[in-house]
Order: sequence, then C-alpha cells, then structure tokens
Amino acid sequence: MFRQALRTFLGPKSVRTVSPEAVTWAYRLLLGREPSPAEVHRHADCADLDHLRRTLFGSREFRTRWRHLCGPSLTGFEPPLEIEDEVDQETLERLLLAVQNTWALLGRTEPHWSVISVENFKQSTFEQNREVFYQSGQENVELFLHLANRNGCFRDGVSEKNILEYGCGVGRITHALAQRFKQVYAYDISAPHLELARQFTSSLGLHNIHFRQISHPLDVGSFPSVDAFYTLIVLQHNPPPIIRLILSNLLKSLVPGGLAFFQLQTFQTGYTFSARDYLRSVEGRREPQIEMHVLPQSRVFDMIYEHNCKVLEVLDDPFTGYAAGDLSNTFLIQKR
Ligand SMILES: C[S@@+](CC[C@H](N)C(=O)[O-])C[C@H]1O[C@@H](n2cnc3c(N)ncnc32)[C@H](O)[C@@H]1O
Repeated sequence: MFRQALRTFLGPKSVRTVSPEAVTWAYRLLLGREPSPAEVHRHADCADLDHLRRTLFGSREFRTRWRHLCGPSLTGFEPPLEIEDEVDQETLERLLLAVQNTWALLGRTEPHWSVISVENFKQSTFEQNREVFYQSGQENVELFLHLANRNGCFRDGVSEKNILEYGCGVGRITHALAQRFKQVYAYDISAPHLELARQFTSSLGLHNIHFRQISHPLDVGSFPSVDAFYTLIVLQHNPPPIIRLILSNLLKSLVPGGLAFFQLQTFQTGYTFSARDYLRSVEGRREPQIEMHVLPQSRVFDMIYEHNCKVLEVLDDPFTGYAAGDLSNTFLIQKR
C-alpha cells in the first residue's frame, strides 16, 4: 500500500524496491528464521531497506526473541494511567457477561488459537501441533516450581498440596499441575474451553481435577482455601474492575504460607478505562475480540498488602511481547 502510494506520487522509477532476497536475509539475520512466501510478498511493499529494518526491529517477534538487545520497554517518563477499577455490582455483572460472551464464542470457534494465538494452533492445523501446545504448559509449570524453589517455598514438594488454576482454558497448564499437585481446582468462564480441558485431562487418566465454571461475580467469591493459585494470560483479558475482583478473591483464598503465581499487564502507554464507555462500545459487538487490559503495579501491590501477603518476586515477562510502552509482570507472592 505504502509503496503503491509513493509510486503514484513520485512515479515508478523513484521508488527503490526491496528485493525478495533482501527480505529473506533480513529475516535470517534479525529473526533467525526463513520468511514465509506471504511475508516476502508483504515486505515487498517497504519503500526501502530502512523501512524494512524498522519494521522488523519493531516487531513483537524481534522484541521477544532478542529482548536483551531492545532495552527496557518503559522509560519511566510515561504519563499516569486513568483507570476505573471499582464499580457497582450491576456493572460488574455486565462486564463479566461481556467477557463470557467473548470467550464462549472463541471456545466454539478457535479454542486452542484463543489460548496461544499463533497460526499453528488454528483448528485446521492443531492436530499436528497438539504436542507442542501441551508441552508448553509443562514448561510454564516448571518455571513456577523453579521460582517457588529458589524462594525457599514448598521444600517438601507439592504432591500433598492443592492448587487453584484460574482461567484454565483447554487444560494446557492444568494437566501439568495435576501431574504434580494433589488436587487442582480449575476455573474458567467458557463452557467450550472447560469441556475440551475435561476431555484432554481425562484422556491422560487424570482424575484429581475439579473443573468449575464462572458464570457470575458471586462465583468468584466462593473459592476453596488453597496452598497455591496460578493464573497466566487470563487477567490481562479482563476489564480492570474484574481483574480486581478476581485477584482480591484469589489472594483471600490462600492459606497462611500459601503461594501465588499470577501474570498481568501492568502498563500500556495510552491505556484508559471507564466502565460506562467500555460497556457502550462492547455491548452489541458482533465479532469476538481478544482484548488487552491493564492494572498498574501500585494497585496490585495495594491488594497484596491488603490481603496480608508479601512480594517474593516480580519479573518482567514476555506475555505481551515486550512492545515499547507495554509492561507485563509475573508476580510471586506469599501469604504471611
Ligand atoms: C488466553 S486463555 C489462557 C488459558 C490458560 N491460562 C493457558 O495459559 O493455557 C484465557 C482463558 O481464560 C478464560 N477467562 C478469561 N476471562 C476469565 C474470567 N473472568 N474468569 C474465568 N475465566 C476467564 C478464557 O475463557 C480462556 O479460557
């Protein structure tokens, strides 16, 4: 598009072309892989090599893969965010219903892709990639246990512990938790996701998982007491008042000494949230959209202290792609 517009404006001879070979080598050097034919074709639209370089350096793929070359995603000079995160009960119900509509629809159409949005996990190609998908859940749990271990938690192991997983999706992480913990309480808002998680985990012969559906804000207030909870790439898809509702009830559910592992997006330059404006735009939307929301660190810390917990670690994590101006954090928290 851009090149066509330039060509119309300047005439065909004045626009330098980016050759397919240049695109191929740029991918090899910067992204460490071969481009697909579609990618070669797409970048032929770049006006020049400088444009190609900027596009690849700015891509989520480059920033995730070569994180150490990119520097921090925030400068610290970003403005404060205006976020409404406390609303009345009726508004909470409407917000949660909007979340449920989105995820139930995604669960009926592209359940695995909705969990990790890469082409390979679309229904048309999922079967060939099933193993990679579920193996990634094992790696997520290994990281959690490693962090627990290096902070001196669960020294006697976890085989006698119970854990709550919030937003279990299709069981990608749930099965790996169930293979290690005594009992898993697995919650999700979407019936189709839960059904796939049930099928997958029972195909592995795992019978220590209690699946539960969230249908109303009150369901979030009735968690069992647990030794640990875990939630990954879930809170970030919920409006801030829902994040607050979930997180404060999860923190409440921990037994003394219990451990929490949770991830959420804590900054996005330009993000604002007003429940009224949001509901106006979202209600009546036809196509489901995977939304990204934010709750700043200071508000997360307030909740942690309110629930008598202490911070063991806060990591910058790759779950929002390290885009400039965005920050996603993984928190390791312990109840006092
Ligand atoms: C991106 S998927 C991640 C699934 C799982 N955590 C994983 O990493 O494999 C997000 C999941 O969270 C669920 N979810 C989103 N908002 C939720 C909410 N407010 N309550 C319960 N589940 C929710 C969705 O239905 C979906 O299954």
